Amino acid sequence: MLGEQKVSYSGVQPSGNLTIGNYLGAIRNFSEYSEQYKTFYCVVDQHAITVRQVPAELRRRTYETLALYMACGLDPEKNTLYVQSMVHEHAELAWILNCFTMFGELSRMTQFKDKSARHSDNINAGLFTYPALMAADILLYQTDVVPVGSDQKQHVELCRDIAERFNQIHPGTFTIPEPIISKHGMRIMSLADPTKKMSKSDENANAVVYILDDRDTIIRKFKRAVTDSGSEIRYAPDKPGVSNLMTIYSCFTGKTMEEIEREFDGRGYGDFKLAVGEVTADALAPVQERYHALLIDKAALEEQMKKGAEEASRCARRTLYKVKKKLGFVQL
Ligand code: TYM
Repeated sequence: MLGEQKVSYSGVQPSGNLTIGNYLGAIRNFSEYSEQYKTFYCVVDQHAITVRQVPAELRRRTYETLALYMACGLDPEKNTLYVQSMVHEHAELAWILNCFTMFGELSRMTQFKDKSARHSDNINAGLFTYPALMAADILLYQTDVVPVGSDQKQHVELCRDIAERFNQIHPGTFTIPEPIISKHGMRIMSLADPTKKMSKSDENANAVVYILDDRDTIIRKFKRAVTDSGSEIRYAPDKPGVSNLMTIYSCFTGKTMEEIEREFDGRGYGDFKLAVGEVTADALAPVQERYHALLIDKAALEEQMKKGAEEASRCARRTLYKVKKKLGFVQL
């Protein structure tokens, strides 16, 4: 809580082209809080460097991610939209929280295990302590809710544990945040392997639908999506491919699984895949249009970055001051 107001906080890494997983699992849900909460949505570039980035691409994607936030309906007048590395309090609190985070806890993080398997030549300390930086992001703003996809739940739970540990020693420091996972968009799976999460870092571009893919590409990717044996459209654990497509269809149309099963009763996979492609392309078209209009005005994006960083810093500074005081750091 900040004063009387509840706080929503979340972040997205500018580490690749954003996918419909990022959209349905996270960004689309951010604006639900804009009216009643104080909201902070961050482009987390400092998290992105835990794996090697090409500097020019990281810079470009930082602008793009900010533009996408706005294109997805986040009004900068109602939400604080900013870039993590522009608010130095994040890195500072992260160091402090590192001293309240246990080696064993970090060792259990599945994202660390996955990423260190994928980048075995670069298992750096930042990759390991990533959750302490993420906890700093969240706790700096006295956050109540963190809307994320289900893959981030473990990190938010660790953040709660860190905050509770800190509060036990230094009472009343942090608000304890709660992860909010949207019902259907919680985990969108790869179109090539429906047992794997759809990920912006997937090397197979056909496995992933990007928010900025054009209509033909979207429809082609869905046509090629892996489905299961049999031919019925049914939401079931033995049908992970079809179930994933149904989830996407449901997210974009608002229809329930039963309604979708009825709608496609007696029709084959071909028809269904085309329908999923069409609703996805229809839903993304206005987002893409707004995005392209926003991206050409680089100066306006930079203005927004400055304004967002100032707003964020004002809140972050207060929490950091309180933390340092409790720890016994001299502040003149
Ligand atoms: P990142 O950049 O990997 O993903 C951004 C958001 O998208 C969600 N997401 C998905 N949801 C459903 N299905 C998918 N296939 C899918 N793929 C991604 C993620 O759950 C996430 O909500 N560590 C975070 C970024 C972060 C953060 C934070 C989030 C840094 N600090 C503070 C919340 C609060 C990450 O790597 O997200």
